[in-house]
Amino acid sequence: MTMSKESGPAAEIAIEIRELHKYFGKLEVLKGIDFTVNRGEVVCVIGPSGSGKSTLLRCVNLLEEPTSGKIFVSGNEVTDPNANIDKIRRSIGMVFQQFNLFPHLSVLNNLTIAQRRVLHRSKAAAEKVALQNLEIVGLADKVHAYPAQLSGGQQQRAAIARSLSMGPDLMLFDEPTSALDPELVGDVLAVMRKLATDGMTMMVVTHEMSFARDVADRVIFMDGGVVVEQGQPADVLGNPQHERTKTFLSRVLNPTAVTAPESAD
Ligand SMILES: Nc1ncnc2c1ncn2[C@@H]1O[C@H](COP(=O)(O)OP(=O)(O)O)[C@@H](O)[C@H]1O
Ligand SMILES: [Mg+2]
Repeated sequence: MTMSKESGPAAEIAIEIRELHKYFGKLEVLKGIDFTVNRGEVVCVIGPSGSGKSTLLRCVNLLEEPTSGKIFVSGNEVTDPNANIDKIRRSIGMVFQQFNLFPHLSVLNNLTIAQRRVLHRSKAAAEKVALQNLEIVGLADKVHAYPAQLSGGQQQRAAIARSLSMGPDLMLFDEPTSALDPELVGDVLAVMRKLATDGMTMMVVTHEMSFARDVADRVIFMDGGVVVEQGQPADVLGNPQHERTKTFLSRVLNPTAVTAPESAD
């Protein structure tokens, strides 16, 4: 057997993306993305609406099929046509803006259903894992509640606990607090901060700049389907090098500021 010339990444790399392109029809949404996420690292992805952030996350667990390029998760090539996609997907937790809890199931059953059907855990084993994770997200007292009886923030924390109950190696978050009333955002971010502190590998698309500044190991700024710049939060957020990053940050940090027309002088 000859060794493949292009070997996979080292085990301590959780996600590696090489030359990723994604088209929707003729629209090129990702225009050559390259980066890695190390095990235990928290990477926040920021950027304007339509810049391709969700598409990027969705490519990592193949909710979208990349047009070209390679993606490795924990050393396994996701983009290999022979990859065991179900197995790889099970190792990736995904939390969306919309919580997607089953409305007709209690919190407990929302957390156990996939454990039982996909991981074939016994009812008792699945419930034990569910309770541990509800404890982590501060919802131990809501085990028997139904989603409609929970606030948005509680529903999102339940969705995070559901994801954790599958025992993922890494977690992807796509604007997890964007649908929440402002006063509920903090509790969800606190749970995410705890996961980060406990060593979870996380890729987080967010507009919460204070979370990115405090929790991220690295911030990636995307615009128009490319990574414009990336680096430590203090650098990217505090001292951006590119005009597009500066413009975006000033809009996010001063949403009510009136921008002077470009021609005005
Ligand atoms: N399923 C799809 N079909 C066609 N176009 C899409 C689809 N999903 C996203 N797009 C387009 O791709 C671009 C990037 O979208 P998205 O990844 O959602 O950006 P972001 O998450 O940064 O707002 C947008 O122009 C969007 O309209
Ligand atoms: Mg998006």
